[in-house]
Amino acid sequence: MTDDVPRFGFGDNWNKFIRQKHNAERLNAASKRLTSFLNREDMKGLDFLDIGCGSGLHSMAALTLGAGKVHSFDYDPNSVKATQFLREKAGNPPNWKVERGDVLDPAYMESLGKWNFVYSWGVLHHTGAMWDAVRNAQARVADGGLFYIALYSADVDLQPSKEFWLEIKKEYNRVTPFTRWLMMWWYVWRFGISMNVRNVPALVKQIWTHRTKRGMNYFTDVRDWIGGWPMEYAGDQETADFLEDQYGFELINVSVGHACSEFLFRKTGVLGRKTDVKQLVEKLKTEKAYTVV
Ligand SMILES: C[S@@+](CC[C@H](N)C(=O)[O-])C[C@H]1O[C@@H](n2cnc3c(N)ncnc32)[C@H](O)[C@@H]1O
Repeated sequence: MTDDVPRFGFGDNWNKFIRQKHNAERLNAASKRLTSFLNREDMKGLDFLDIGCGSGLHSMAALTLGAGKVHSFDYDPNSVKATQFLREKAGNPPNWKVERGDVLDPAYMESLGKWNFVYSWGVLHHTGAMWDAVRNAQARVADGGLFYIALYSADVDLQPSKEFWLEIKKEYNRVTPFTRWLMMWWYVWRFGISMNVRNVPALVKQIWTHRTKRGMNYFTDVRDWIGGWPMEYAGDQETADFLEDQYGFELINVSVGHACSEFLFRKTGVLGRKTDVKQLVEKLKTEKAYTVV
């Protein structure tokens, strides 16, 4: 953990989200994002290790899509509660395990064995030791298996600056709940509508369409963004190089240009590969260059 700043209450935010907002439409949106990034229609034949499961929505989506075994864990007990809530809603399926766990704990990670699909969306940069977390997560991928991660990108031109957001996050976790509430509305005023009430209709539309992206909620994500601490940024090429060069992965799909870059790697065991991320992005605009079977 960096500095003396308390961690953000990710789980509290997820628990509220899942109890107040969960519905079939969100589950469907989460499922669609999984299948579209995987370029598959379902997840049959895949077992799903969800590292930092948060609300549990994507674990539930994987199960609904036919994943064989689902294992969801999170550092934050309230994220575990949120995911358990969804598991109960799903009728407590025996092939879905939910527990507290830490991606930075080598013994715990080792105990999980190998998986043909390891998923960690928006998590590893919030651990306080991002590259250790990436290293521990990738080690759970079986030969030929898939590794789907999303990390805050160092390549996106964040306004006013990347450092500004790190300071905001630290501040958010030091202040009272009332000041946090004010900070959320400050964000909406300054960045949601650019300090111009004429932009309110566009924001309302944005809030409405936000749910269709990964099944998420605008205000839950705003709190997660302004409060999510600890937090680090990863370069897009840096991430690809780290996993390809040292750990024998091949980058097969990527989505960049948003706060979080998404990566789909396959474990080939061949070390030293060097995919040019920008070239792959261009290639993927015209062709689906991979098939995940
Ligand atoms: C931004 S949320 C993402 C949740 C979910 N993966 C999603 O896509 O909606 C980050 C999650 O990572 C969890 N997390 C942070 N550090 C962790 C660690 N060391 N081990 C496991 N989970 C961790 C947080 O508690 C939080 O639930």
